[in-house]
Parts: sequence; structure tokens; C-alpha cells
Amino acid sequence: MVGTMPHENRQTQLIAVEAHNPDARALGEAARILRSGGLVAFPTETVYGLGANALDTDAVARIFAAKGRPANNPVIVHVADVDSARRLAAHWPSAADRLVKAFWPGPLTIVVKKAEIVPGLVTAGGPTVALRMPAHPVARALIEAAGLPIAAPSANRSMRISATTAAHVLKGLAGRIDLVLDGGPTPGGVESTVVDLSAERPRLLRPGPVGAEQIEAALGIKIERCGPRAKHDAPLPSPGMLARHYAPNVPVECMATNASARVAELAGSGQRIGWVRLDHESGEIGPNVVVALMPGNPDGYAARLYAALHELEDAGVERIVVSLPPEIPRWAAIHDRLRRAASGPEENDAR
Ligand code: TXA
Ligand code: MG
Repeated sequence: MVGTMPHENRQTQLIAVEAHNPDARALGEAARILRSGGLVAFPTETVYGLGANALDTDAVARIFAAKGRPANNPVIVHVADVDSARRLAAHWPSAADRLVKAFWPGPLTIVVKKAEIVPGLVTAGGPTVALRMPAHPVARALIEAAGLPIAAPSANRSMRISATTAAHVLKGLAGRIDLVLDGGPTPGGVESTVVDLSAERPRLLRPGPVGAEQIEAALGIKIERCGPRAKHDAPLPSPGMLARHYAPNVPVECMATNASARVAELAGSGQRIGWVRLDHESGEIGPNVVVALMPGNPDGYAARLYAALHELEDAGVERIVVSLPPEIPRWAAIHDRLRRAASGPEENDAR
């Protein structure tokens, strides 16, 4: 872990901006902080990011310190345009051209061989860099105002639930970062799809809003898929493929069927239970049960998921039961995040 003590006890400013028309003065202040090596949280179309100048090792070190993130987990670099992305790559494969044409700006991150100028801390010492051009107007305007590539992991403490509102960001990072640009709730809710283009065959490292089938259609070939359930002793394809990630501070159980019976059983034993319930489900809701009602479509569900988990955490439940949505491709990213939220710390690789 990287430590930069002098920066840890700082005042965190909060500035509200309109999501579709962010104020130029607020952007100017955020850009100034970024250029001087500080940390700014900002909304993207997926989740809030915690940004720093990607070309400044000390600034990136502050991200790791603020999050408590292990130094072997690389961060995504956010850019305003394709040319900026290409400058950070040592090699730009034709697959990258096809994918950025189809999906940028948007929730797709591509991994390519890194250029010399990308600091090793950004890539966790590895030879590749993850690049993404976000679609959110605040994110784009901020990157343009700073005139820099912005390293930005999700704006949460390491291993905890991602932030989809400024309040979630402050819950984890108040006093540890310089500024939060509050552009309201993020529209997407689940982190970007990550696809590795640095090897012979493209490989999906993290399912997300852009589906594997959409990527295959754009590339005209099948891609490899790997999930967090890969064998325990196998080397991690990406450090972010830890089983546990995106997790609340209480145990989570996923139920494909009979969630209401499980909730009743647990609540009956006196525990305070959070139930992430689909909106068409029925079931007895006793006094010990706090319900988070979820939309029955993948987009609505994704947009609500992390807020629901934060709410249940804040309500002080002792355990969370999740009614699993259908096991079909449209729900793949959500299943991935729910599985990770539910896996115990013992399933982690070395951390
Ligand atoms: O939607 C998103 O991607 C959000 C917003 C803020 O853009 N960001 C985000 O960052 O989710 P983070 O750091 O929480 O997740 C980045 C993922 C991790 O799984 C990390 O291991 C992987 O991308 N990653 C980053 N650089 C990589 C690299 N060079 N090779 C393989 N995986 C990489
Ligand atoms: Mg994250």
C-alpha cells in the first residue's frame, strides 16, 4: 500500500453541478486541483470515479492511500478523446479501433500495451494500461478542463460498495480527498465492461454495461470470458478479478428461489435482515426486515443496485438476502456484482 500521510487529513469540498451543463467555475476549480496533484471525485455514466493526474506518480499514490487500495490493483485512465488514448498506448490494435468506434464515449474500458509515459503505479507495475472515454458530460468536461488523462478508480474505499451518489462518496472518503463534484445520481450504476486487447485473443475481464455479445458483434469474432469464479489457485487475469469486491459490510446471500422463506427464517431468529427484492415478488415483511425494492429490468436494477446496498448498510441490517434476477445474458453484469458481494473474504486471493 502506498502512504502519503500529509494528505490524509484534509477538508473535502462539495460542489454541486448540473449533470448536463456543469458550471465552468466549478470545473475550473476541479481542474486546478487535479493539475496541482490533488484528488477530485466526479460522476461518470457508471459510478463516481476518484480522479488524479494519471501522469503524476505522487498524485496517483494519493488515490491508493485515500482508498486503502492495494498497490497491485491497477487503475483505469480516463481520456477525453481517442487521440489522447492512443498517446498512452505503445500499440493500438485494430480491435481497439473497432471497439472505440462502436462504444466510445461510453462504459467500455480497453486494456492495451502501455506507452512509456504511463507511470508504473497506474498499471500496478504491469506492461498494460486500461483506457476509457466516459460519456457523462461532467466527466468529459472535467477531463477537458484539466487537459490531462485522469486516473480514476471507483470512488469508494477498497473492497467496499461503489458510489453512485456524492453522498456515497463522502460516506467512504470524506476527509481523504479534496473535492467532490456532485452531479446527482449516476445513470448507469454498474462499472464499465473491461476487455483486454493486449494479447492475441480479446478477453473479457469484467462484465459490464456493454455486453460480451455486443463486443463480439463489433469485432466479428468470439472473445474469451473469464469470471471471478475461475479456479482459486489460478493466477488472476486481472487484479480486479478478486472474488470479493463491491461488497457491503455485512454478509450477503443470493437466492435463486425461495428468498422470502429465507428472509422469514432469518428474521424469525431475531436478526435484522435487509432484503433486496424484485418488484414483482411477494412475501411476508416482518418487523425485522428492511426491504429494498428493485426494478425488474436490467438497466433499472443496475442504476439502483449500489444505492440499495448502501441504504441497507446504513439501516444497520445484520445480513442481506438478495433475490437473484433471471440467469440470462442481459443480467450478466448484475449477476457478476451480486456474486462478488456475496463471496466471503476467504475467497479472496491473498488480500
Ligand atoms: O466504470 C468504471 O470503470 C469506473 C468509473 C469510475 O470509470 N471505474 C472503475 O475503476 O470501476 P476500478 O478501479 O474500481 O476498476 C478498474 C478495473 C479493476 O478490475 C482493475 O483491476 C482493472 O479495471 N484494470 C485496471 N487496469 C488494468 C490493466 N492494466 N489490466 C487489467 N485490468 C486492469
Ligand atoms: Mg472499484
